[in-house]
Amino acid sequence: MRYSKADAENLGADRCLLQNIVILTGAGISAESGLGTFRESDGLWEHHRVEDVATPEAFEADPDLVHRFYNVRRDQSAKARPNAAHIALARLEAGHPGRVRIITQNVDDLHERAGSRAVTHMHGALSGALCHGCGHRWPAPAVMSSTDTCPACGATQTRPDIVWFGEIPYGAEVIDPALAAADLFVAIGTSGQVYPAAAYAQHAARMGAHTIELNLATSANARDFAEIHIGPATELVPEWVEHVLTE
Ligand code: OAD
Repeated sequence: MRYSKADAENLGADRCLLQNIVILTGAGISAESGLGTFRESDGLWEHHRVEDVATPEAFEADPDLVHRFYNVRRDQSAKARPNAAHIALARLEAGHPGRVRIITQNVDDLHERAGSRAVTHMHGALSGALCHGCGHRWPAPAVMSSTDTCPACGATQTRPDIVWFGEIPYGAEVIDPALAAADLFVAIGTSGQVYPAAAYAQHAARMGAHTIELNLATSANARDFAEIHIGPATELVPEWVEHVLTE
């Protein structure tokens, strides 16, 4: 993908250097760091659909299974390294004169390890533990189990601090104003199948933002984007960041 002058006009380059940039990331941005996405290939883990593991009901029925699922992901995430796309977004935040906010659905910490600061984890983080009983939060150990006790209340109702299907995503107090103020909204590596994140492009567009999708394949909400660029994140994201920073 190469951005021409016409692209620059599409991007609204005269809109005060795109002061407010809001970026929504999904599993696709971490795919080239070796972390599997949710809905590609067979989308299964030990024969379970993600939707059947990432729910409060699944945790109630079989906490050991759910802990095992997240222990594996925590281990993979710790071993993974930020890729060129994460690094480019950190460079954008450091070099762009306006605001840059990342809203991520990912529970890994690759944005932070690449150097991004303004990151909202709307689906929680593998690095956190949460007491289902008293609501206390603390850093998750590498391996969690159903016999762990909460350091605050002593209950054995500890769980990963992850937002499961049917639960309310984190960060609305940051996300809603960011979308309302966005000049440019960019979705990277997300399939557009999980709400509310899948509605953010349409929401931002209605509030006046230009919308761009960067993805390996067209997403389910492609109609909400003014521009779509197809390719791997490690190529598309650095090129787009370069374009914004040299405008
Ligand atoms: P999905 O697995 O649904 O989609 C991954 C997206 O990444 C697809 O659109 C792919 O085309 C794209 N993709 C894959 N490799 C890529 C690459 N190298 N470069 C660019 N794009 C690439 O993941 P999400 O959309 O993040 O929620 O899923 C959203 C939520 O559903 C997750 O946060 C999780 C899941 O169930 C919870 O666990 C609550």
